[in-house]
Amino acid sequence: MSTTIIAFFNNKGGVGKTSLVYHLAWMYSDLGYRVVAADLDPQANLTTAFLDEERLEEIWLEKHHQKTIFGCVEPLIKGIDDIAEPHLEYIANYDLSANKLALLAGDLLLTSFESYLSSRWHELQSRKTLSLQYLSAFWRILQKASIGNKADIILMDLSPNLGAINHAALIAADYVVIPLLLDISPLYGLRNLAQTLTRWREGWKTILANNITDAEPLPAGIIQPIGYVVCQLPMRLDRPAKAYHLLMSEIPKVYREAMLNDREDENISLQDDPNCLALLKSYQSLMSMAQEAHKPMFHLKPADGAIGAHTRAVKNVYEDFEKLARKIAERTQLKTF
Ligand SMILES: Nc1ncnc2c1ncn2[C@@H]1O[C@H](COP(=O)(O)OP(=O)(O)OP(=O)(O)O)[C@@H](O)[C@H]1O
Ligand SMILES: [Mg+2]
Repeated sequence: MSTTIIAFFNNKGGVGKTSLVYHLAWMYSDLGYRVVAADLDPQANLTTAFLDEERLEEIWLEKHHQKTIFGCVEPLIKGIDDIAEPHLEYIANYDLSANKLALLAGDLLLTSFESYLSSRWHELQSRKTLSLQYLSAFWRILQKASIGNKADIILMDLSPNLGAINHAALIAADYVVIPLLLDISPLYGLRNLAQTLTRWREGWKTILANNITDAEPLPAGIIQPIGYVVCQLPMRLDRPAKAYHLLMSEIPKVYREAMLNDREDENISLQDDPNCLALLKSYQSLMSMAQEAHKPMFHLKPADGAIGAHTRAVKNVYEDFEKLARKIAERTQLKTF
């Protein structure tokens, strides 16, 4: 059986996708899972979160970018070969996670793959074998990466758009988690996102059905939504401002309708919504401390500046992320540790 791949995706930018993947990758590794964090966003923010500047320079200034996701697809782009073997960056073991956390590094050059993939989506009928080789590239790279780290789980970070790279990346995903902000955007954005995911899922099903005789293994294209995570809650939920009342009752309804086609007119608040995987607070100063220290917020120590009230906050953040990681593990039927 192939390793579970979970995408964190919303075509709205700045909602907390990368921060979630970064923290969950560390958390799963703390809990004993072997993890691959895959940076398929050409902005490569996940990669800059994990690696220091020195290492970034080494891998991004290398001639063929052999240590990044771009290096994996470059032979395809050049038309000289199939995908290259992925390189995994093992994340320094300053804590307990004994090299169980690996990064498939992102690359700004990955944007150049967008137009190739876009053509392949359009040429699926006329140049089927070649197109499928391109469109399954991310999935095949992730499979190889998972074997490299004997991974239990692959977490995928994506850019905020509905383009060809994300289309090819999402058909590689078994599950998708939708990070969102408690603002008006989910009310009009979720329907469009859900329709696109359905179109991509159904489209891939048709492709697979027409391809049963071909020998090359292809992704199953399940892309099952397992819930949403509200990131950066602006306030304490026991004293919400008036404007948020509407959002807190509407978001569960809109998610149910859009993602699950469930039109039951039930009034469930965010806190009680089973589709709401977590309500994460805006951690502000802890987040900047963590970015500075190249650590997840829940690993901050007094030496990193986490003193006084921050000590308690670090513990709370650990609990928040552990709860979220375990909930996702349960919904994706991961083995438990
Ligand atoms: N819970 C949080 N508390 C405080 N700040 C946060 C939290 N989550 C994310 N942020 C901050 O919000 C900003 C956007 O987060 P992030 O980069 O994770 O979003 P994104 O969805 O990956 O963005 P993009 O769509 O550009 O890839 C970052 O500066 C991040 O540090
Ligand atoms: Mg991001």
